[in-house]
Amino acid sequence: MLQLINGLKRYLRQTIELRREYRNDYREYKRWNYNNPGVHSKNSFEAKILRQAHILEKGMALNRPRERFGVDKANSLIDFIEQYEAFGYEIDKSAAVLNAIGVLNAYLAFHRERGYRPEGLLHRFERLQQYLPALSGSYGSQTVTLDELQTKLRGTFPDFFLSRHSVRQFSAQKITGPEIRQAVKLAMGAPSACNRQSCKVYFYPEAETNRRIGKLIAGNSGFDPETTNYLVITSDLSAFYNAFERNQVYVDGGIFTMALVEALHYCGIASCILQNGESRKKNAEFKKICGNIPDNEKIILFIAVGHYPDTVTFAASRRKFPDDVFIIG
Ligand SMILES: Cc1cc2nc3c(=O)[nH]c(=O)nc-3n(C[C@H](O)[C@H](O)[C@H](O)COP(=O)(O)O)c2cc1C
Repeated sequence: MLQLINGLKRYLRQTIELRREYRNDYREYKRWNYNNPGVHSKNSFEAKILRQAHILEKGMALNRPRERFGVDKANSLIDFIEQYEAFGYEIDKSAAVLNAIGVLNAYLAFHRERGYRPEGLLHRFERLQQYLPALSGSYGSQTVTLDELQTKLRGTFPDFFLSRHSVRQFSAQKITGPEIRQAVKLAMGAPSACNRQSCKVYFYPEAETNRRIGKLIAGNSGFDPETTNYLVITSDLSAFYNAFERNQVYVDGGIFTMALVEALHYCGIASCILQNGESRKKNAEFKKICGNIPDNEKIILFIAVGHYPDTVTFAASRRKFPDDVFIIG
């Protein structure tokens, strides 16, 4: 009896603790997400700018970009840069803003080559051109041949690691279960919390299932039609306990996904991680389409997979400065 009462007390304490932690998560996210008009940190502006620039670079890395795509997005990007400056942040101190200027320049060149001149945008960009001489390397998109890529795959660790890019162009050759299995086996070398290995990879060979999954995914516009297979990465909620482990499905899911993406790269399979829009309704629909993912498994991400075409163009997705990321003291 005493044991039962103590068990109930423990369960009650844990439930209260869980509610408190989720309430705090809610408050923190509400306070700091960048849609909150009260958030003016340099990082938040940079995040907005990086995301907006990425929309343009993604457009240039598609097999069939929409004609005259992105003028409104490019104008919003300049709005964001102007807001960044209005808060006293300096352009030449920000890799994110310099990247955006490089992307805008590449974007305008992309349209120029196709005989299109968005006059208003060109006019607004004039002032930002003063920063172009400070830029070096590729901005916007980059192209490699399959031969070049294969040499890098078997090169040094930096060659291998830095030759992986999110790919949004695939050849018509279908990917098979055994090919993915080989990569999954390697990815299982990923660390996980107390070695609980909560993640799973779901692969659906049937075209119709992939078509329906693809239709529901938010971030695949422009390359959904040529994606034949989506992997679904899940992590098992029932592998964890207590309030302090409440985010562990995402941590383990993220680490496992990174290992899988590297393993796919090693196996010569092109991939692009795709965000799972975290709405209850959508997740229920995904599970209905897949048909074999139990309730206790959380869908963490999707990965578009396929074979490389002979020449592939990908978004350059330039990174911040190392000193933005590595902080001493
Ligand atoms: C959590 C996560 C979600 C992502 N979601 C999408 C997405 O919805 N659509 C997309 O095209 N790319 C998506 N990506 C790919 C990123 O855009 C890409 O990783 C980033 O631009 C860096 O480029 P790289 O992967 O080529 O190095 C996602 C990546 C991560 C890690």
